[in-house]
Amino acid sequence: MNVPSERPAVVVLVSGEGTNLQALIDAARDGALDARVAAVVSDRAEARGLERARRAGIAALHIPREGYPSREAYERALAEAIDAHAPSAVILAGFMRILGPSMVRHYAGRMLNLHPSLLPRFRGLDTHRRVLEAGDSHHGATVHFVTEDLDAGPRVLQYRLKVRPDDTVETLAARVRRGEHVILPRATSWLATGRLRLVGDEVTLDGETLREPIVIEEGS
Ligand code: GAR
Repeated sequence: MNVPSERPAVVVLVSGEGTNLQALIDAARDGALDARVAAVVSDRAEARGLERARRAGIAALHIPREGYPSREAYERALAEAIDAHAPSAVILAGFMRILGPSMVRHYAGRMLNLHPSLLPRFRGLDTHRRVLEAGDSHHGATVHFVTEDLDAGPRVLQYRLKVRPDDTVETLAARVRRGEHVILPRATSWLATGRLRLVGDEVTLDGETLREPIVIEEGS
């Protein structure tokens, strides 16, 4: 009998709504993600992402920061829960905690973060408001490797849109979110299957160095 080999495991960390987690779950179900979401971990009990995971029959773990005496102890617990699934990729999909150096080093080259801006523009929070205040012509989202520099690891894939004169924080958030649902499953699939690699500071895709992130334009 021909036994299909099991698809690589991905563990997703979330703190909130989990629409990007849902995009990963849907892509895995539809065959657009060459991986399976093996577990979802959240620092927040009320994270809707945990509910989405449970509904999809995926292991959903709430690991509260308050239960641990230090950040290091907390991150050891996170890593233990994650490593139990031997993931090829660990995805921060709206996980709103800054990870310490030992955790980041442990997942070097295996962890991607999704950020709602065209990095290196607007690291940190409140990106949609800051884009409008700065009067930028374009905005979007970035998937990048996680390194010790917050929101500054090597970039892989971006979604780019043109800011419209009537855009508000809410409309931009919705447009960016739609793009995130496209780029996150794609980059996750590349990493989980070994097509995407971090070699030193360099990103390679199918063995070719990416000097700049790949950009997907809204409406393309
Ligand atoms: C996404 O927009 C993601 O880019 C952002 O959180 C949102 C999570 O949405 N991440 C950050 O701001 C990380 N600094 P979701 O819970 O609906 O997937």
